[in-house]
Amino acid sequence: MQRITTHGLNMPKLGLGTWPMRGEECTGAVLSALALGYRHIDTAAMYGNEAEVGAALAQTPVARADIHVTTKVWPDNFAPDAMRRSLEASLASLRTGYVDLFLLHWPRPDTDLPKTLETLVRLKDDGLARAIGVSNFTVALMRRAVEEVGAPIACNQVEYHVLLDQSKVLAYARAHGIAVTAYAPLARGELARHPAVQRIAEKHGATVEQVALKWLLDQDGVAAIPKAARAASQQTNLDALNVTLDDADRAAIAALPKDVRIVKAGWPMDWD
Ligand SMILES: NC(=O)c1ccc[n+]([C@@H]2O[C@H](COP(=O)([O-])OP(=O)(O)OC[C@H]3O[C@@H](n4cnc5c(N)ncnc54)[C@H](OP(=O)(O)O)[C@@H]3O)[C@@H](O)[C@H]2O)c1
Repeated sequence: MQRITTHGLNMPKLGLGTWPMRGEECTGAVLSALALGYRHIDTAAMYGNEAEVGAALAQTPVARADIHVTTKVWPDNFAPDAMRRSLEASLASLRTGYVDLFLLHWPRPDTDLPKTLETLVRLKDDGLARAIGVSNFTVALMRRAVEEVGAPIACNQVEYHVLLDQSKVLAYARAHGIAVTAYAPLARGELARHPAVQRIAEKHGATVEQVALKWLLDQDGVAAIPKAARAASQQTNLDALNVTLDDADRAAIAALPKDVRIVKAGWPMDWD
């Protein structure tokens, strides 16, 4: 499995998303993914499932040092003391002394960016997170984080799949050594509506999910975190790494609609 290394980050390119799993389904899914060879798990304080992920981390025979764990802090907790409390609670639930990547989950219009990023950096300096980053940041916000504040942002986790253009975010991220993690990489089932993706899948004896994942994973600096509750789907997604897409496939994918944004914020976002 290829990894992305930058600004303290050392992250396998394919991970397991855990939202909206809870309870035994979540613990079981994380355990099965680890048994299949996944070494990257994505959670968040907001998902309410860190204890279940922590139970899997405690039960798996895989060493903690070999697993990349990402968690996130919700904007209600961006103030310095609140962010530290949120991360400490996440670590207690996850039963670990550190996370590999700690992200600001969403920017909000009232976010004091310099202060919030300074707090994030302090938590990294204190050893609670190996790397820090952001999620749902536009180019304008990434630029402020990097050029105004000088924060060592290792990752921006954004919605990204074959039906959504993220070329501007990718260009800025690449120029500044920032990984892009694609969430909703399977476009939450929307792929089935596009015969062009189906045709590529048939050509390679693959599934549409595998085509969508391999298209992402072939890109420099891009990771993907499909959520899959069942071991069979987790294995299918892992096997995407064995699919080889060609220029004709990439041209067909480039011709798909690129404006399908599935995840919306609870407040106005200017994505351009
Ligand atoms: N940072 C953010 O703001 C943010 C926002 C959204 C999501 N995320 C993260 O990104 C992760 C993934 O995104 P997502 O869950 O929204 O969407 P997704 O991964 O694009 O889609 C998940 C759906 O695809 C299905 N699936 C998975 N593998 C499959 C396969 N091989 N064949 C057929 N169906 C398959 C799953 O089925 P099952 O239901 O059977 O598992 C589930 O219904 C989340 O779990 C979360 O960790 C982050």
